[in-house]
Amino acid sequence: MTSSVPQALDELYHRHLTLTEHTDWAYHRLLPWDRGRDFGQTPWEAGQGTLPPAMALAVETAMLTEVNLPWFTAGLVRLMQDAPDALRQFVHTWTSEEDRHARVLETYLILSRNGDPDARSRLVRTVVREGWDVPGDSPFSVMVYTTLQELATRVFYLNLAQVAREADPVLDRILKTIAKDETLHFAFYRGAVGAYLEEDPERIGAVCDIVPLFTMPGAGMPDFGQRMRSASDHGGYGLPEYLSQVIQPLLRDWGVFEHQVSSGVEAHRRGLADYLSRLERAAQRVAERRRSRGEDR
Ligand SMILES: [Fe+2]
Ligand SMILES: [Fe+2]
Repeated sequence: MTSSVPQALDELYHRHLTLTEHTDWAYHRLLPWDRGRDFGQTPWEAGQGTLPPAMALAVETAMLTEVNLPWFTAGLVRLMQDAPDALRQFVHTWTSEEDRHARVLETYLILSRNGDPDARSRLVRTVVREGWDVPGDSPFSVMVYTTLQELATRVFYLNLAQVAREADPVLDRILKTIAKDETLHFAFYRGAVGAYLEEDPERIGAVCDIVPLFTMPGAGMPDFGQRMRSASDHGGYGLPEYLSQVIQPLLRDWGVFEHQVSSGVEAHRRGLADYLSRLERAAQRVAERRRSRGEDR
């Protein structure tokens, strides 16, 4: 029996190319150049920033996640070596689209004087030098990971845009533009994983193993925990959103708990169910903390 996967991947890739033709963007059109001032004449000082500090921190954290792209691409190229053509081509296209994200965010922060640009420049180098190992040991398992990653970033950008709208419409537009890219990346990877699962539902075992391992690239950056707490408290993205807007819809979409599987895979599924109940309890605690903070105000 010949596999239906390569054809499904071809279709997904061509759909991606058609859709991006209409949504393509160039960052010079999005940035507020008129706010730029010479740092030699007017050195940076705390207090010049135009955003609430927690929002500036969330934008910077997103940028630091995006700067891991060279390591991400290196890992994907290695794992996709023997993968069908469409996947290998997609990695190239995906890299060219992701390449704009860190740049537009960092330039925005520099022009709007949010955050110390020297400290940030050192931080970027530390994060990139640290490197990043893409989790997974096959094209399939790495795509389970990247699907989560693309959906998580999509939700992160959209939720942050909602909070940022009032503070700076320019930032709102930048975040929504990036979110559109992430949405299309997510659609490709979700469809690709779906095609592999359709071919062999036993692959659900690998899905169950990868999902609990998910952390954002850059999780090793200094102060990552504090940055994530701040995004959760002020940026509209934390565990409750991760659970209800990322994990749950994705598992439903792939039918992870619906497919008929062997007893061996069932054991992996029970492991995932345990992880989900722990995540639910942790998300509830975060939601309660937010409520009591809101009441304290
Ligand atoms: Fe991105
Ligand atoms: Fe993306």
